[in-house]
Amino acid sequence: MVPVGFLTHSVVFWLCGVTDCPCATLPHVQVPPFVLRQHYAKNKNLENRFLTGKHLEYSKWKRSPYKHQSNVICSFLRLDLLPAKNGEEVTKHFLQELLNILLAYISKSLNRSSKVLDFHHPHQLKEGLEGFSLELQDQPDNLEQLLVDCQDTLKYGVKTAHPCFFNQLSTGLDIIGLAGEWVTSTANTNIFTYEIAPVFILMEDIIFKKMHSIIGWSEKEGDGIFCPGGTMSNLYSVLLARYHFFPRVKTAGMLALPPLALLTSTHSHFSIKKSAAVLGIGSESVFLVKCDERGKMIPKELESSIRTAKSKGLVPFYVNATAGTTVYGAIDPLNDIADICERFGLWMHVDAAWGGGLLLSKRHRMKLQGIDRASSITWNPHKMMAVGKAADCLCGCQGLLQECNQLCAEYLFQPDKHYDVSYDTGDKSIQCGRHVDIFKLWLMWKAKGSEGFESQVNHCLENAEYLYYKLKSRKDFQLPEHSNVCFWYLPTSVRNMPPGPERDRELHMVAPKIKAKMMEEGMTMIGYQPLGDKVNFFRCVFSNPATQKEDVDFLLDEITRLGRELYS
Ligand SMILES: *Cc1c(COP(=O)(O)O)cnc(C)c1O
Ligand SMILES: *[C@@H]1O[C@H](CO)[C@@H](O)[C@H](O)[C@H]1NC(C)=O
Ligand SMILES: *[C@@H]1O[C@H](CO)[C@@H](O)[C@H](O)[C@H]1NC(C)=O
Repeated sequence: MVPVGFLTHSVVFWLCGVTDCPCATLPHVQVPPFVLRQHYAKNKNLENRFLTGKHLEYSKWKRSPYKHQSNVICSFLRLDLLPAKNGEEVTKHFLQELLNILLAYISKSLNRSSKVLDFHHPHQLKEGLEGFSLELQDQPDNLEQLLVDCQDTLKYGVKTAHPCFFNQLSTGLDIIGLAGEWVTSTANTNIFTYEIAPVFILMEDIIFKKMHSIIGWSEKEGDGIFCPGGTMSNLYSVLLARYHFFPRVKTAGMLALPPLALLTSTHSHFSIKKSAAVLGIGSESVFLVKCDERGKMIPKELESSIRTAKSKGLVPFYVNATAGTTVYGAIDPLNDIADICERFGLWMHVDAAWGGGLLLSKRHRMKLQGIDRASSITWNPHKMMAVGKAADCLCGCQGLLQECNQLCAEYLFQPDKHYDVSYDTGDKSIQCGRHVDIFKLWLMWKAKGSEGFESQVNHCLENAEYLYYKLKSRKDFQLPEHSNVCFWYLPTSVRNMPPGPERDRELHMVAPKIKAKMMEEGMTMIGYQPLGDKVNFFRCVFSNPATQKEDVDFLLDEITRLGRELYS
């Protein structure tokens, strides 16, 4: 058996054959702190590591007000922090040092002369680099070492806030959002009941009302849940749709169902197939509807796929339309799809994970016309709105989430509490506890106003337009599409080949080669992929508010430079 683990927000612990109180096994109960500290003062290795290793502002530690407590700095351990008696000073100093590390990292991330990444292969990181070891030992490390570890963790990671990071749909670092995340982690609560998250629950309610009115839904129709990712939101939408048509499935299971069919476009993110697999509908029950050249679902093809599914004895119940496909950024004709869904009585989901942000812009929101006719919508604030990961919301009909998912656990959702228990919204979720995603979004909204989000979205689209026009004017690039900006780099040798399979084979290798060299050098990052009959091409996406036209220029110059080096 190969052990498999998942670390999401939680880890599983178990105790085998324990008869005593489990508290008896906690080390801090058995070993008084001073014993450990003495142990460490004697531990030469550790001391040497500190004295010879990279020390973080050692001089500051020396000047620190509590240095009289010990002249061996590395002897401060976790146990000296709060809740230790008189732990305030050490805690304050530790967190301030950490803050310095974070501030330095943020400045570096936004400094155009610094690298986006310092790439290492997995085996190099595993073996340990310059004293940065991922291995865990039986003995505790001191606080100094932990700070160095924090710094190294950031150092060997990828600076997703860098203005030249174009690799993903979610980029950038909003300082207010970051502050919100810190506050959230400090509050360290769980958003299942009003009882333990009164403020956050109400904020969720306020943000949903705001998003619903932006979508164009009335207050009565709207409902929603924040969940850990667009893929999860999409899963919820299939779950809701199935429950809406076949409520018996909740208790009787699959036996209560006819064979079902889901419909989505050929350009779909893989998440609909995942949803179908997870929910026992089966990925073979997903019908892929043909798209046009630009990646938009063709309404006529949707109709014929519905008929095909029916002729095979399946019951179509769910159509997934997309507002902003992952690769092309294509937006399906939502009104036409809504008409078809109404005619056939199907659930219309709009996956606006990427495109939802456009609703905030007066200039771009008409691209999503018809979205208000959807039965459910996925919208990821962590993409276009650049809210810290992860904050995803699923919006659906009022009441249905609750009905579909509630099991009324008596230890959480007691109906006889002394406040309005309709605010205990946790039973809408398929999780038990939920991370508080709402506060950073709420705080950002407060800091920017809706107008701030609007200009942020407009800025990203202006960058995309700029890249598009630059590409059009250059011979060594070719555009297949232009919502997200997708393009090929054409080395002279490829440009001179006649179109055909041989040229495609050559062109297919260009983007991966350039990307590999790009990562080794670390100055910028952009994604690539093939799609349908198109061989590997670059996809540039803009969601980072820090990105300016000069960064777009830099990207093109880098691709050209790397391309020329590789193909000269
Ligand atoms: C990003 C994306 C998803 C998945 O969102 P995660 O938060 O990464 O799970 C789903 N659909 C579309 C269209 C996306 O762009
Ligand atoms: C940016 O980084 C460069 C090179 O590391 C450095 O010389 C410069 O001072 C930095 N600029 C700022 C504003 O920090
Ligand atoms: C719907 O399709 C889009 C792309 O067309 C895809 O990104 C998304 O994951 C799909 N939604 C669901 C529920 O799977």
